[in-house]
Amino acid sequence: MKAYYKASFKKSETSRYGVLLDPVAGANQLLIEVKAVSVNPVDYKLNNMDTGFIPGARLPKIVGSDFAGIVRIPAEGDTAFKAGDRVYGAAPIFFGKPGSLAELLVTAPENARHIPDGMSFQEAASLPVAALTALNGLRRCKVTAGSNLLINGATGGVGHFAVQIAKAKGAVVTASCSEKNSKLAMKLGADKVMGYRCEDMANISGAFDAILDAWGQMKFKDIFRLLKKEGSYASPLFLIAPAFVTNIVWLFSRKYLTSMNMRKRAEDYDEIEKLFSEKKLKPFIENIFTLEKAAEAFAFAEKGRPRGKVIITLAD
Ligand SMILES: NC(=O)c1ccc[n+]([C@@H]2O[C@H](COP(=O)([O-])OP(=O)(O)OC[C@H]3O[C@@H](n4cnc5c(N)ncnc54)[C@H](OP(=O)(O)O)[C@@H]3O)[C@@H](O)[C@H]2O)c1
Repeated sequence: MKAYYKASFKKSETSRYGVLLDPVAGANQLLIEVKAVSVNPVDYKLNNMDTGFIPGARLPKIVGSDFAGIVRIPAEGDTAFKAGDRVYGAAPIFFGKPGSLAELLVTAPENARHIPDGMSFQEAASLPVAALTALNGLRRCKVTAGSNLLINGATGGVGHFAVQIAKAKGAVVTASCSEKNSKLAMKLGADKVMGYRCEDMANISGAFDAILDAWGQMKFKDIFRLLKKEGSYASPLFLIAPAFVTNIVWLFSRKYLTSMNMRKRAEDYDEIEKLFSEKKLKPFIENIFTLEKAAEAFAFAEKGRPRGKVIITLAD
């Protein structure tokens, strides 16, 4: 099969496109013919790292996590999936497990979901990591109807889902993005748009119940100025927000700092799928590459300025 994979643990030797032996599914695994994969920052971060220290690390290491495709061989004794089912999900990226950037993927049934009716392979592949992270951040920030919410990095992978999910919850959304993406932010449903490089942001204080920082690198002085008393801030770059740090910050500032992370919970997938079926959430896909051009897709995503999701397609 054709794949995009690391042949060395060294960070200087990033992934290459080439041919690997077809994988053989174990008794409890699905064999999936992959049709689309989306690129997430974690994929290029891993690609650019020395990975030999990761427990169970093995070569060749196929990179990529989000996938959508068709079940070719179901897992023994598993009744959830049969051959021919359209499925999507996120393959685990660590512990020697194969990633999704290959024509064939073997993975456990718990990493897969049926693709809902009306959802394309590309749309399905764009959802797991980014949309589940956005949902988690909104929950951690307790965003509900009427919440005054700032979403920073509002038109990237996580941000563009966060805007749509927050609007579906009835929040009042201010989107922060580069000037070139203002129109897209409005199209996604934002009530107001601010350029993150403009003066507007500097002149605001105490305006927001919550800040979902999809970019993840806002300065603390800006966070504390922009948040109302008892407001919450979530970043995807705090992998964990230790309770004692959160508590100390809360004690002195009455502001709550937290992390947002992808959680592969069935009820979270259900919520995303429901929003999709109600037409309240639609992945924005503008940049599509073939597997052969995966290196270009990674280089493009790595610039950190994608609009919506970057897709690698393996469909005929
Ligand atoms: N912990 C987790 O489970 C988890 C899950 C998913 C993602 N993440 C992390 O979350 C981050 C975002 O992921 P993503 O998929 O949304 O990335 P992405 O698709 O590359 O989007 C990055 C966004 O950041 C914006 N941005 C760039 N410079 C900025 C600045 N100076 N101020 C404000 N925004 C700026 C870009 O907006 P413009 O194009 O308008 O400049 C773009 O919308 C990554 O670091 C990723 O690793 C973590």
